Amino acid sequence: MFTTAPGWPVMLSDGPVVLRPYRRRDADAWSEVRRANQAWLSPWESSPPGRWDELNSPAAFRYVHRDHRRSARRGEGMPFAVCLREGGRERLVGHLNLGNIVRRAFCSAYVGYWVDARVAGRGVIPTAMALAVDHAFGPGGLHRVEVNIRPENRPSRRVVEKLGFREEAYHPRYMHIDGAWRDHIGYAMTVEEIAAEGGLLARWHRVRATTR
Ligand SMILES: CC(C)(COP(=O)(O)OP(=O)(O)OC[C@H]1O[C@@H](n2cnc3c(N)ncnc32)[C@H](O)[C@@H]1OP(=O)(O)O)[C@@H](O)C(=O)NCCC(=O)NCCS
Repeated sequence: MFTTAPGWPVMLSDGPVVLRPYRRRDADAWSEVRRANQAWLSPWESSPPGRWDELNSPAAFRYVHRDHRRSARRGEGMPFAVCLREGGRERLVGHLNLGNIVRRAFCSAYVGYWVDARVAGRGVIPTAMALAVDHAFGPGGLHRVEVNIRPENRPSRRVVEKLGFREEAYHPRYMHIDGAWRDHIGYAMTVEEIAAEGGLLARWHRVRATTR
């Protein structure tokens, strides 16, 4: 893949959790997971016109994949397929994007993510986030990452709280999600906040070891 973006393409892993760029042949797996999780995902996502089944069909993946590739090529995003490697098989179970990357004096990205409800609660997304943030702060050349979460989204707030993100803002009517303009809480982290701990993955391993 031709790219001028620092740190892309890349594959990252920790235990069974694997982050990698999407492939054209992910269409069926992506569609199966998205269709099976409509009730789980739709309260937290933007709502473009169209039926969920159609927006998440294998055919629709062509356009999703094209947008991912374009943003990655321009250095504006790092769209990762989140996979689990178990029993010698790797299956797609979620998504994590470092998006809206702005460089120059900002060097910051917004993170978005979701995981299949069938593997929720296993620490897949905190692990994926720790891998992606360490990569963003290292080869990706970024200084700051930001996550915006609806106050009602307790599981997602737990992800950033467990990783030690700083709560830094309240954004009224911030994003159009599930049919309306929704308030969000802004969380962020800069590289200085985890450098002394050897990175976010090292911190996450320590948090897990003490809470098990
Ligand atoms: C938010 C989300 C990505 C968390 O991913 P995850 O890999 O399950 O993260 P964790 O395993 O760390 O679990 C986080 C919290 O989810 C809750 N949780 C655990 N198992 C759960 C389950 N089966 N169902 C619902 N919530 C569950 C717990 O509160 C947990 O916090 P805890 O560790 O303090 O108990 C996932 O819940 C999800 O995809 N939700 C729908 C989409 C979404 O909200 N995306 C983010 C938008 S900002």
